[in-house]
Amino acid sequence: MKSIVSRPVLHTAGILLLGAALALSARGQEIAPAVIVTPATPQQLEVQRIGETAIDRVAVSMVNEVRSALRGGDPTDALDFCHLKALPTTPGAIISGMPRIIAVKFTSLRIRSKENLPDAADKLALDHIDQALKSGGDAPGVVVQRIDLPDSQPEWRVYKPIAVTTSCLTCHGDPDDQSPRLRNKLKAMYPDDLSTGYKAHEWRGVIRVTVADGPKP
Ligand code: HEC
Repeated sequence: MKSIVSRPVLHTAGILLLGAALALSARGQEIAPAVIVTPATPQQLEVQRIGETAIDRVAVSMVNEVRSALRGGDPTDALDFCHLKALPTTPGAIISGMPRIIAVKFTSLRIRSKENLPDAADKLALDHIDQALKSGGDAPGVVVQRIDLPDSQPEWRVYKPIAVTTSCLTCHGDPDDQSPRLRNKLKAMYPDDLSTGYKAHEWRGVIRVTVADGPKP
């Protein structure tokens, strides 16, 4: 699928600690430290495999959803259900047959909806991708992250960067190209929208899944 950046980047094995562990979230609450991990153990590789499979499935659904939103009707009518708002939210039952997927999120450094605001751990992953692109490299195909929770099993998150395709531009491109109806409804629904002005092939954000910790070896 052309829209999804999917070139895997092979790092050397081991754990790559990126920056200092986060102690404070944007709102100043204490949160657990999040670290980006280069999967090396069978358990970590399994988290990555499950995460990537789930994200690929979500990405296919998202692309199909956008395609049908733009086919025929007025895209304005699709705003109330973009993107995959109808996905179940019960942890473990979000993606059929994938009980270890306990959350799915779309987020970005330039969000449209406050609901999708990155938390501190999301921000760490987004900045990691942003820095790779700003330094002239490729976006990593996938980012795996572990969050160590006190007195509990760690939480795993898997992120994949997604790119803007021409079909995304209807709602994320230049507002001057939008119909007045679409532009007005977007403005009314999302007064602080930062997600317009994109051009095709630009990095838009990530699809993130949370993967429950697996059985101990
Ligand atoms: C029909 C209009 C429409 C199209 C087309 C569209 N989007 Fe969106 N997009 C939205 C809306 C509406 C939201 C806010 C969703 C919400 O309220 O959670 C959004 C939010 C997002 C977000 C979540 C972060 C944020 O900004 O809140 C991402 C990532 C995203 N879009 C990517 C894409 C990509 C990639 C494409 C093309 C494959 C695309 N969108 C096409 C309307 C659209």
